[in-house]
Amino acid sequence: MNTVLIKGKIINIINNNNSLETKLQEICNFLKEEINYYDWVGFYFKNGDKQELKLAKFAGEATEHTIIPFGKGICGQVAVTNKNFIVQDVSEQNNYISCGWKVKSEIVIPIFVHDKNIGQIDIDSHTVNPFSIKDTDLLDFVCREVAKLDLTKIVLS
Ligand code: SME
Repeated sequence: MNTVLIKGKIINIINNNNSLETKLQEICNFLKEEINYYDWVGFYFKNGDKQELKLAKFAGEATEHTIIPFGKGICGQVAVTNKNFIVQDVSEQNNYISCGWKVKSEIVIPIFVHDKNIGQIDIDSHTVNPFSIKDTDLLDFVCREVAKLDLTKIVLS
């Protein structure tokens, strides 16, 4: 993984003139295409003042899990712990919401705006044990860049 090049491309997307929705979609598409073990890439955000996450943009197979209550699944746990969560083998995780039998592992990184956890990036992989410190570093970077965008429209709608 060429982290420097990938981060450069992310910065280009963040700074282009497209709408927020298009930028988020471009980031999902780019990461899914660029990293061969990223099989599904999506952004969930807090759904208004509800204690739940709502799927905003994604690349990969459509999922029925467009709303996830806080505390449920890997995504819902990150909404309450405010911590990165790497599950190298989903069969070992009890509090997990399956998005299909092909998914073997998952990484979720929270997005903070003014120290508030307002959403997350979620990656599913069809490979067991694919994630390393490089993924955490890259996705932390992506989340910090996304946090610079004006997300009020998505988080409050
Ligand atoms: N597996 C997630 C649900 C969302 S999908 O991966 C798209 C979870 O356990 O929260």
